[in-house]
Amino acid sequence: MEAKLKQANISKEEALKLRENFKTNYLETWAKLAKENIFFKEEFTEILDDSSKPEYKWFLNGKTNISYNCLDIHLPDKAEKTALIFEDEAGNSEHISYKELHQRVIRFSAYLKDIGIKKGDRVCIYMSLCPESIIAMQACMRIGAIHSVVFAGFSAHALRDRINELEAKVLITQNGFTRKNKSIELFKAASEAILENDSVTNLLLFERMKNNNELNSRTEKLISELDIKVNLVEEEIRDNKYQDIEKLSSIEPEWLESNETSFILYTSGSTGKPKGIEHATAGYLLWTKLSSKWVFDLKDDDIYWCTADIGWITGHSYVTYGPLANGATQLIYEGAPNSPEPNRFWELIEKYKVSIFYTAPTAIRSFAQWGLEYIEKHDLSSLRLLGSVGEPIGSETWNWFYEHIGNSKCPIVDTWWQTETGGVMITSLPGAEAAKAGVAGPALPGISAEISPESLLYISKPWPSMLKGIYKNPERFHQAYWSKIEGSYLPGDLASQDEDGYISIGGRNDDVINISGHRMGTAEIETALAKSPLVSESAVVAIPHAIKGQGLVCFVILSENTSNDSEDKQKELSQKLSEHICYEIGAHARPEKIISCPALPKTRSGKVMRRLLQEIAQGKEPSGDISTLEEKSILKDLLKNI
Ligand code: PRX
Repeated sequence: MEAKLKQANISKEEALKLRENFKTNYLETWAKLAKENIFFKEEFTEILDDSSKPEYKWFLNGKTNISYNCLDIHLPDKAEKTALIFEDEAGNSEHISYKELHQRVIRFSAYLKDIGIKKGDRVCIYMSLCPESIIAMQACMRIGAIHSVVFAGFSAHALRDRINELEAKVLITQNGFTRKNKSIELFKAASEAILENDSVTNLLLFERMKNNNELNSRTEKLISELDIKVNLVEEEIRDNKYQDIEKLSSIEPEWLESNETSFILYTSGSTGKPKGIEHATAGYLLWTKLSSKWVFDLKDDDIYWCTADIGWITGHSYVTYGPLANGATQLIYEGAPNSPEPNRFWELIEKYKVSIFYTAPTAIRSFAQWGLEYIEKHDLSSLRLLGSVGEPIGSETWNWFYEHIGNSKCPIVDTWWQTETGGVMITSLPGAEAAKAGVAGPALPGISAEISPESLLYISKPWPSMLKGIYKNPERFHQAYWSKIEGSYLPGDLASQDEDGYISIGGRNDDVINISGHRMGTAEIETALAKSPLVSESAVVAIPHAIKGQGLVCFVILSENTSNDSEDKQKELSQKLSEHICYEIGAHARPEKIISCPALPKTRSGKVMRRLLQEIAQGKEPSGDISTLEEKSILKDLLKNI
């Protein structure tokens, strides 16, 4: 393990020193790191304003721009260096240098300005992981427009709700892309999402799938039917006006005050309504840059690959921003890991000599299930560091990853963090601290992670990349994160700590669940079910799933006039409700099972006893105390239906 990390960015001594500095001079250490790592157009005048907690403000009065720090600062030194290596599922590839990426970003940002987008406007991005989506995000950052990326797997309905709350001015999408050899028609969903919307003034369309006649004729038809102007981006920016790179380069980026909003990303909480997590500018940039450098040990000659989609926070912090801020070369891949064959990832690692590979436990469990034969035929010796994110990896999967992908030579960073934290909070530093299988690790230097007597993980000091709020909902921000442990941030995870200070994450302490690394709320699924006329009441629980980590089981009480007396009827109903959830949320929320039942087990005060449902969903006899259960006979009926 050591041989691959001889000159780690953070050595054991440096880690100790950093920890000591934070301990003795917390704020000054952050200030020093900010000055060393970020280009500020105007220096900040105060490190932290905590006068209106928990609305903390970092690096006050500093003026900076995230995109400038990701692109311009690398020119001219790294102008010719590859920033992005892109490959789509069909195997088409593109190498984009820092110079070219910069040009494409300034062109698109000039275009956005020309159509009237200005600082503070919300721009919704509904796209696949491809150069154009990264360019769109960077271009928004450049002009101070607030992007909100919606994962391309979300349905038109889910997209519409987000666009409406954001009062987005622009929706950027693409005609489609290919996944698992199927065309995913994003434009269709995008156009559906803005029916009856009056905030969106422009629908911007990238024609990513040029050679698909069928898709294109469907897209053309939709465009002709829409009563909103659809701008074909590639055509528009071919205009001469966007070819004068020198002139475009002279346009200043929008210099944002450190605490102005950089982006909003929706995530699930414990109510039926997703939260628009709002991030600031300088602190977010600082931590994504630093944590990429420290945790992934990013070096100039690395080929870094994070498999996360831009629709999630990992795709923001460790695809679009952190690696570029460090001037790294990274691979992005648009397709599925098993398309055309389950060896696709290994083929990509061999082809591009990937040295750092960051993925999710669900993917790793699938690789293990697909079999070693797909791995063994590839040379993975370029790998030097592995990473895991988004859900508990567990020691078995950790060991498999270590042995079969890392050839027992690569350290693994099991990174715990959240949409809200902006960047990694807990993991072992690869050149300084030995990893332990299935244990996330110590908190990173500068991060004050602690555990309450009730095993609740909490962060006792503000940190630069912390969320600045929940969009349009300050009460929820206070209540969800800051109300339980005085002065501390509560992420909602359970944890324990060993004698070396290493933290093990023990799952969630609320109704937030994690399916294939996708965060969801059971209440969100219940809200979706409530919209079906077939359902009068429902309770949704998560059960362990061998590949996805967790799977959904929905217990539904059908509305009076819905019959499901035969087995066929049951099946049909299940299918209908499953489709209904996909329609309301997206295919990633498809449940494992839908069980119709005459009643739900409730306490005398009317609270659904989820613990019992969880056991029943796994076919187990309910154990533990059932004395608070109002009607005991319900259990028998429920068990009969499993
Ligand atoms: O429960 C934790 C789990 O994922 C949640 C955050 O989800 P999200 O905001 O979508 O961000 C995912 C990518 C950072 C956390 O509250 N989680 C994340 N990383 C880990 C994890 N659980 C265990 N181990 C991890 N490494």
